Parts: sequence; C-alpha cells; structure tokens
Amino acid sequence: MQIKEELLFSEVLNDLKTKKYPIAVIGLGYVGLPIALELAKHSAVIGFDINVPKIDQLKEGIDPNGESEPKAFEGIDIQFTHNGNDIADAKFYIVAVPTPVTRFNVPDLKPLQSASALLGKFLKPGDIVVYESTVYPGCTEEDCVPILEKESKLKMGKDFKVGYSPERINPGDKVHTLTNTIKIVSGCDQEALDIIAGVYNFIMNDKLHLAPSIKVAEAAKIVENTQRDLNIALMNELSMIFDRMGISTMDVLEAAETKWNFLKFYPGLVGGHCIGVDPYYLTHKSIELGYSPEIILSGRKVNDNLSRHVAKKTIQFVSQQGKNILNAKVLVMGITFKENVSDIRNSKVVEVVKELESYGVKVDVTDPCADEAELFNEYGVKLIPEISNDYNCVIVAVKHEQYAQLKEDYFLSITNPGAAFIDIKSQYRGQINELIYWCL
Ligand SMILES: NC(=O)c1ccc[n+]([C@@H]2O[C@H](COP(=O)([O-])OP(=O)(O)OC[C@H]3O[C@@H](n4cnc5c(N)ncnc54)[C@H](O)[C@@H]3O)[C@@H](O)[C@H]2O)c1
Repeated sequence: MQIKEELLFSEVLNDLKTKKYPIAVIGLGYVGLPIALELAKHSAVIGFDINVPKIDQLKEGIDPNGESEPKAFEGIDIQFTHNGNDIADAKFYIVAVPTPVTRFNVPDLKPLQSASALLGKFLKPGDIVVYESTVYPGCTEEDCVPILEKESKLKMGKDFKVGYSPERINPGDKVHTLTNTIKIVSGCDQEALDIIAGVYNFIMNDKLHLAPSIKVAEAAKIVENTQRDLNIALMNELSMIFDRMGISTMDVLEAAETKWNFLKFYPGLVGGHCIGVDPYYLTHKSIELGYSPEIILSGRKVNDNLSRHVAKKTIQFVSQQGKNILNAKVLVMGITFKENVSDIRNSKVVEVVKELESYGVKVDVTDPCADEAELFNEYGVKLIPEISNDYNCVIVAVKHEQYAQLKEDYFLSITNPGAAFIDIKSQYRGQINELIYWCL
C-alpha cells in the first residue's frame, strides 16, 4: 500500500513510543552508548557497532570505556549487534561514529561515510537520520546526505529526513550528564525538527535548544570546542612567557582572576578526541571556502607544541642535576588524555614520553586508569609493573583522583636526591618544598 506523502512522517513519534519500530544507534562509543541506553528506557533500540569484541562486552552489560555502570544495562529494551542487517527495520537512526583527523590534521570522514553508506542501504520512506558526530558546518548535508540518497535511491526531504544533534557528553564527568545538559537539535525542515525534538525529549525533559538549521547546530558544537582550545592556548603561551620571566603563571592567574570579568582558563596539554581535533574541522572548511584562519590555527600550533616544551624543561632540570641524560630516569604518572578516564586517544602525555625518549632518557610510565594492552597497541608504550626509587624527575601529568592524596614524602621516597618534580596540572602547588618544583 502506498503511504500518502503528507502522512509519511506523521506517525514516527508514536511508532517509536509504541515500539512498532526501533531506533538504531550506529557507533557505540563515549557518545553513542549513553544515548542508546537512555533511549532504550523508552523505545526499542538496536545498538550497532563494527567492533565485534565491544559488542560481545556490551551484550554482557559491560561498557568497555567504563563510563556506564552495569545497572544502566538492566531493564531496558536494547539489542546489541555487529550485523548491519539488524538495523534494517529501524525508523529513526542516530549516527555517532568517530570523526578524527589524519596525521596531516585534515578531517578523516571515512567512518562517517561508511556508516552513511550502510545506513543508505536500509533507508525506507518515512525514516529519519540524525548525525551526532562532530563535523564542520555543511558536512551533514553536503557529504553525508548524497551518500544516503545514492545508496537508498530516495530523496532527502521528500522520502526521508535528516537532522543534526551535537553531543556535549564529558567522559569522567558525573555532574554534567547527557540528560541534565541542554542538547542542541536541528532538522532539515520544521517537520524533521519537530520529530527529532520529540524523540530526544523521550530523555531530555525539554532541555533542548532548537537550532534554526543543521549548519548552525554543526557550527555551535565546533565553536564550543574551538573557544576552549583558544583560551587554553592563550594560557599556554602566557605560561611560556612567564617561565622566561621567572614568575609563576598560577600566581599571575590567581591575581588576575580577582577581576569580575577575567575568564578562568589554565595552561595544560590539550589531547583527546574533541578540543585538539574539532578546530581542524572548522579550519579545513574555512580554507576550502577561501578564508585562511589565523587565530584558530595559531592556537592549535601553541597547544600542539606544548608537549615539546614540557619535555625540554624536563631535560633542563635533569641536566642541571649534573646527570648524563643517557643515564637519567624519569617517571611519568598519568598517560590518559585527561583525569579519571581510560581514554588515551590523542594523549599529549605520550608525546612528552616519546620526546624524552628521543633524547635517550629512560622513561617509566604508570597510570591507574589506562588499559595496558590498548596503550601498547596504540603507541608502543608499556606501563611499568612497579614504581622504582631512583628517578631523576617525576612528571605528574594527569589529575587522576588516585594521585590527589600523595604527599611530598612519597615523591621523595621514589626519587634521587636533588630530583625535579614537574606538576603539569599544578595540583601540588605550594606542597612541594624539597624537590625542584615546576608547573606550567
Ligand atoms: N568522546 C566525547 O567526549 C565526545 C563528546 C562530544 C562529541 N563527540 C564526537 O562524537 C563522535 C563519536 O565520538 P566517541 O567519543 O563516541 O567515539 P568512540 O571512538 O568512543 O566511539 C565510536 C564508535 O563507533 C564505532 N564505529 C566506527 N566506525 C563505524 C561504522 N562505520 N559503523 C558503526 N560503528 C562504527 C567504533 O567501533 C566505536 O565503537 C565523534 O565525532 C566525536 O568527535 C565525542
């Protein structure tokens, strides 16, 4: 039976609520899994991922990223699969696959393209597709929709609709969660927006911001991260200037912060999959459109060079001990890209380790959160089984909660006399008196 065109999308919300059709979530990582688990409290959900071992773990109620508790898998309507055919019956698709950059910092759209190609094979009239992956403005409509149309032989807007809803999830953050943080939604037209907002409202309780277009929603996400990246870059640059002046950046910031409109940002290594990557999506598109961004790329350059600066300072401190670099031993505490998560993607601490090793320094690495096998497979870096007691320098690179209660006595017990202590996150500021202390 031919469905009348004007009625094609009228029952979507109801069909999802009544579980006549499922929602499919494609890509079950830091972004896709929480949304799939939440939606599965209200609708039937199919969680699809190409990573077979991950699907096996999810079927057991285990989140390999350690972000969702086992109880989040209980009492919900979800089917995990690595078989693409299983998404065929869905009516509403959410795509949350990675959007990395190549080693030349150019957007790598391969996961997005292959997810779109698969999805296109199963698209039916009346379906809705929402992208959540972080992309440059225009990517959904200019790069993904043509693939959907080609594979499905359907027309976007008429036969199926698309939308974009960026994610603000912050791994390791138990305060700002998916469901208590305002979520931006957008659609290719008003009808799509209404349905997409309706579906997200299954879980968002009206904490939605309705963007006027898909491009605006795409841009909003990338701007959130670009703004952060640039503000941190400014702090990193200040820190390099103040280091040469012999004044503490943190002392300066503490003083400056007493003004009502001074923004609180701090120097640090900018790794991970968002802040250090997303701005390149924006700059790539900007260059394509004929504008070469100066400020954003300068900020990126400063932040990308910070690991070299940290390594250089470490070498200086070790040399000042009269130590031959080739016999020096450095302990790096914390290798994940940020505190209290196992995520090692784009970890800038790894770059510090590699840079130090390039000088011939022996570097031991320890981390309570990182997965040993993943770290080795990804970067060839091993975690040491036991911390030794003869380091010439200790670098505490990440603010893991396990490190919070450590005192100077502990660091003294694992170092040689006259050793240096590098406190990347300034977490022991004012507490280290005997070791040679340095922070950004
Ligand atoms: N992690 C964050 O904090 C965060 C926050 C906001 C936005 N984002 C963005 O969300 C997107 C996803 O990020 P993430 O952190 O969840 O990534 P992730 O690597 O944790 O998860 C992505 C998942 O997609 C799967 N995948 C890859 N290609 C696939 C395909 N073709 N079909 C099906 N599954 C596929 C991978 O196996 C992986 O499990 C990215 O664009 C990222 O920039 C991430």
